[in-house]
Amino acid sequence: MKAVIFDLDGVVVNTAKYHYLAWKKLAGDLGFDFDIRHNERLKGVSRMESLNIVLEVGGITGYSQEQKEELADRKNQYYLTMIENLDQSEILPGIPEFLDKIRNAGYKTALGSASKSGGMILRKLGLESKFDVIVDGNLVEKPKPDPEVFVKGAQLLNIPCEECIVVEDAKAGVEAAHAGHMKCIGIGDPMILGEAEKVVNSTEELVTVDLEHI
Ligand code: BG6
Ligand code: MG
Repeated sequence: MKAVIFDLDGVVVNTAKYHYLAWKKLAGDLGFDFDIRHNERLKGVSRMESLNIVLEVGGITGYSQEQKEELADRKNQYYLTMIENLDQSEILPGIPEFLDKIRNAGYKTALGSASKSGGMILRKLGLESKFDVIVDGNLVEKPKPDPEVFVKGAQLLNIPCEECIVVEDAKAGVEAAHAGHMKCIGIGDPMILGEAEKVVNSTEELVTVDLEHI
């Protein structure tokens, strides 16, 4: 294995909760409660696709494309306000150590995030220099589970997909990794991420994973 490609939200940094809270606030504007139970479906998927899921949960139909774009923009504004003061304390446990360990061992690293704020967040966290390549939602068109975001990362690293390992917290992300012929380490619940070659409970455990034997 030659490279590790990281999802951002819920893997590198604790921003998945702010995406959830911003959608919840939007649902409140629309008059319904968006419950944490439904949140799993939003992980890893694009902003517009997430909006469609939120509206479906609320039983809301009939919005025009223009109205949907306004709602998605409004959610993004809520999200950006929530992460305005994001700092290194929100980096998930063990991530800096894992990045240092694999880079010292000669692995290349890439970000492979669906979020249009991905690059900006890495800069805010001071982690930009730990990634050889940064692919975020501004560089891709097809949302996960399409493998585009990871395949682009591999291409920019100039490493074959088969030699890349993806780290993901979302089912859509595990599917995207496999669609791109990459192995995947899941962070979270094996019941949800069971398709991944290896699942760990938390990012803290990443340093213990033998990347050559997953
Ligand atoms: C993914 C998140 O990383 O990015 C999703 O898991 C989010 O929750 C998606 O919707 C798109 O992010 P953004 O910042 O472009 O709306
Ligand atoms: Mg994620």
